[in-house]
Formats: sequence, structure tokens, C-alpha cells
Amino acid sequence: MPHPHVVGTIGVVGAGAMGAGVAQTALAAGLTVILHDANPGTLTAAREQILSRIARLVEKGQFSEELQDGAERNLQLAETLPALAKAELVIEAIVEKLEVKQAVFTALEQIVKPETVLATNTSSLSVAAIARSCERRGRVCGMHFFNPVPLMKLVEVIGGPDTSAETIARALALTGRLGKIAVQVKDVPGFLVNFLGRAYTTEAQHIALEGVAPPAVVDRIMREAAGFRMGPFELMDLTGIDVNFPATTSIYHGFQHDPRLKPTIMHEALFNAGRYGRKTGQGFYSYAGGAEAAAPRPHKPPPGGMTAFLAEPNADLAALAEKNLSKAGQETADVLLIAPNGEDATTACTRLKLDPARVIAIDLVGVGRRFLTLMTPPGVDGPIQTLAAHLNAQGYSVATINDSPGFVAPRILAMIANLGCEAAQIGVGAPADIDLAMRLAQNYPRGPLEWAAWLGPARVLATLSEIQAITGSDRYRPSLWLRRRALLGLPIDTAR
Ligand code: NAI
Repeated sequence: MPHPHVVGTIGVVGAGAMGAGVAQTALAAGLTVILHDANPGTLTAAREQILSRIARLVEKGQFSEELQDGAERNLQLAETLPALAKAELVIEAIVEKLEVKQAVFTALEQIVKPETVLATNTSSLSVAAIARSCERRGRVCGMHFFNPVPLMKLVEVIGGPDTSAETIARALALTGRLGKIAVQVKDVPGFLVNFLGRAYTTEAQHIALEGVAPPAVVDRIMREAAGFRMGPFELMDLTGIDVNFPATTSIYHGFQHDPRLKPTIMHEALFNAGRYGRKTGQGFYSYAGGAEAAAPRPHKPPPGGMTAFLAEPNADLAALAEKNLSKAGQETADVLLIAPNGEDATTACTRLKLDPARVIAIDLVGVGRRFLTLMTPPGVDGPIQTLAAHLNAQGYSVATINDSPGFVAPRILAMIANLGCEAAQIGVGAPADIDLAMRLAQNYPRGPLEWAAWLGPARVLATLSEIQAITGSDRYRPSLWLRRRALLGLPIDTAR
């Protein structure tokens, strides 16, 4: 007798980018797929596309001819919805409009068996709202795949308020059968990945909008100091401003205007101008002529050394200064070095009563990758370029930015960690799933809670509290999850 959770035939409604990807993945796993689309032309085009992709995999030796024959046999095109009657689980991947999805779910309920699971691949609507149109709401869940489906490992399995445990178990089992990794997620705006993804991109924009550094510098810092595959602005231009601006605003509205998720006027301006990123040739960057932003050339240091005074005790800063600069007293040193944690250079310099013209704040987050970020209080050109040149000559990559509480990388990383902590606090996902999801779906080098652990929870709490105090903005208010674990010295993934 087959295990009750094992599905042999799935229905897929919508044969666009996502539906075709889901169908291909299910065929590759040996399942039978009944594929439906309202547009018959799309349906036949999807069949051709799926089979030709599978043929290419056979040529590459990644797929057997036997499986290919099976896939051809197992793909059934359905011009009408009633042809899905035999499906044991249906995945809906049609246009992102609530009324249209509700109409499809209502119609499906009259067609499929009572125990058939109905899953939506919606990325921004609530599962609860889609399920509301159904009589048996317990069988409705979300199965959120990522694009391109055959390559992306993660699936978010989303339970609404009425979703039954059996439905979740069947969706999880199917995800495993498809060779994917599931995380179980609560029905909140943006679910897990799109909700948490806001931290990286919106904080980068707030930093650029404040005039701390232009997008190219922020991107370079996040790649080189923190090890992200893509900088936040490159990422937004790639996914498209037409996609990520509406997603950002809808998640912000969905979370009742939590300032942590606040969009920026700079994002909206690009959206209004139709500058959607790579697809239109212009976004945060211009792609005219295919020119990419050039990496800055290292400066040559002027002859003679540089003297430095360590204005506040900090072991990492002391080690850096010891190896690369000569020591001098506070009165005579060329530069007065500080490594503030969440303070901007202005605040730290005022607190320590230092001469602002010689103060340089150094961010050491990327020191292990030999990357340093330098900033000064405003109104002083000072010796920052000279120090950058000296450090370049010692083999460090250096970025210089305008004054910022939390520099660039620590500030963005603290926001990523904080939103991850908030997701754990409100139960959007289990701590381990929060990290797994962001690594798999967003290619993060570390998940949000892993960043908190790497930086140290107490440090992240201090960074955020400082930024909140300096800016007066509740955007930076620390999550209770973070605060409690930092105060008690507990690991960040400690359960409630
Ligand atoms: P798409 O526009 O490529 O495909 C949608 C398909 O649905 C079209 O072929 C259309 O003819 C068909 N359709 C529309 N109304 C229908 C109806 N009433 N009955 C049957 N078929 C109908 O869209 P895409 O990108 O595949 O997205 C589909 C769903 O997946 C949306 O809910 C979207 O939010 C979600 N999603 C999209 C991702 C992406 O990166 N494109 C990622 C994750 C989720």
C-alpha cells in the first residue's frame, strides 16, 4: 500500500515561468503532471520548452533517456480545468491577482477529490485570503518555489490559519520527493525569504539616500568586506525595480508600516521613471554600452610614514595600527584612530573630545578579508586619503565613506540579523530554517542568525541601539529576541 503522503500525480495551473518550472521538476522526479493554462498557446509552448530543456539535460548526461521517455509520457496538457480531477495535489501558479486565484480555487474544489491538497505559489498574497474562497480551507497551503524552479533548492511551505497538519505534511513530503528542501513558514507578508530580504536592500538604500556612499561603493563593501555574491543595488537591478519596489511597499504595508521595512523615495523614483534595472538598461546603475562600474584604483602613498594615536582601546584596531603605522601621542599624531560600534564619527569624536580634523573611524568587519572602510566627521578632508593610500600599500582594499552610524557593512548586517531575530520572535520560521532559507534562496554567505552569532549578539544589540539613539528612528529598534539573548549571553538560536 502506498504511503498516504506520497503523491503520484500533480496538477499545475498556470504554465508560465513558474508553472512550467514546477512541471519540469515534477517530471524529473518521475511524477505525472497535468498542466493547465487559460491560454492554449502558452500550454503548447510550455510543453515544448519543458521537453527541450529535458533533452538538453540528457545531452549533458544529467538525465537518462529512460527518464526523458517517462517525462514525455507523464506530461499531460489540459485545456480545461476539469481535466485536473485525478490530481492528488494541485499547485497554482497563475497571475498574481487575488480574485483570479480565488476563482480558480473555488472552481478546483468542485473538480478534485475532497482530500486533494490545493497549494498556491503566490509570492505576495496571503494564503488565508486565497483559502477564504474555499469550503475546505484546511487543504489549502502555500508552496512558494523560487525562480528558476529547476535550479533553486528551496520551497517555502506556508500554512494559513486554517491549514491542516495533514496538508502541511503532504506538501512537505512532495517537496522532498521533488528533490527540494522545504522550510515551514507562517503566513505573513512576504513569507520568510521576501520579508527578510528587505533588510539587505532597503538598508543599503537608506545608506545611499543619506549620502554615506553611492551604490557602487555600498555594493563593493558588501561583496568585499562581507562576502556577499552580489551587492544590494546590483541585486535590485537584476531582479528588476518593477518587481522589487512593489514587493517592498506591499510587505511594508502588510507589516502595518513597521519602520524596519520602510521603502525609500529613491526606489520609488526609479519605479516612476520606468528605470527598472538591467531589463531597461538603467536602474541604480546605467547599463548603456554594457559598462560596469570600474573598481577604484589604489592610491600611491606619499613618501614618509604616517603616525597614529589610538584614541580608544580596541584590540583589533591596535593590531592594525601596530603593524601598519607608527605610534605617536595624541597631540602630535597625524591621525587619531577610533573603531566605533554604531556611533558615527561625529558622535564618537565629540564623546572622546578629539580634534575632528584628525579623527578617522575604521570599520574592521572585513579585516579578515583585508578590506577596511574609513570615515571622518563632516567638514574635514583631513588625512583620510593619505591613510587609505598607506593601507592600500600594505595590501588592504579600502573604501572611504561619509559619516554614518554603523558605517555600511555593520549597519546592513545588523539590520539583516535584527529582522531574522524578529522572524524568530514572531514565529515565522524556526531559527535554523531562517538561516537555511536565506542561504539557499538569496545566496547569503551566512543566514541572519548566523550573522548575529558571527558578529556577537551583544555587539549587534549595541550597534542597533546606538543607531536608534543617534537617528531617533525606530527603524533600528532591536528585536526582543536579539535583546534577551544578548543581555543573557545566550546563543542567538536559543529557543523561547
Ligand atoms: P507568468 O505570467 O509567467 O505565468 C502565469 C500564467 O498563468 C500565464 O501563462 C497565464 O496565461 C496563466 N493564467 C492566468 N490566469 C489564469 C487562469 N485563471 N487560469 C489558468 N491560467 C491562467 O507568471 P509567473 O512568473 O510564472 O508567476 C506565477 C505565480 O508565481 C504568481 O503568483 C507569482 O507571484 C508567483 N511567483 C513568481 C516568481 C517569479 O520569479 N516569477 C517567484 C515565485 C512565485
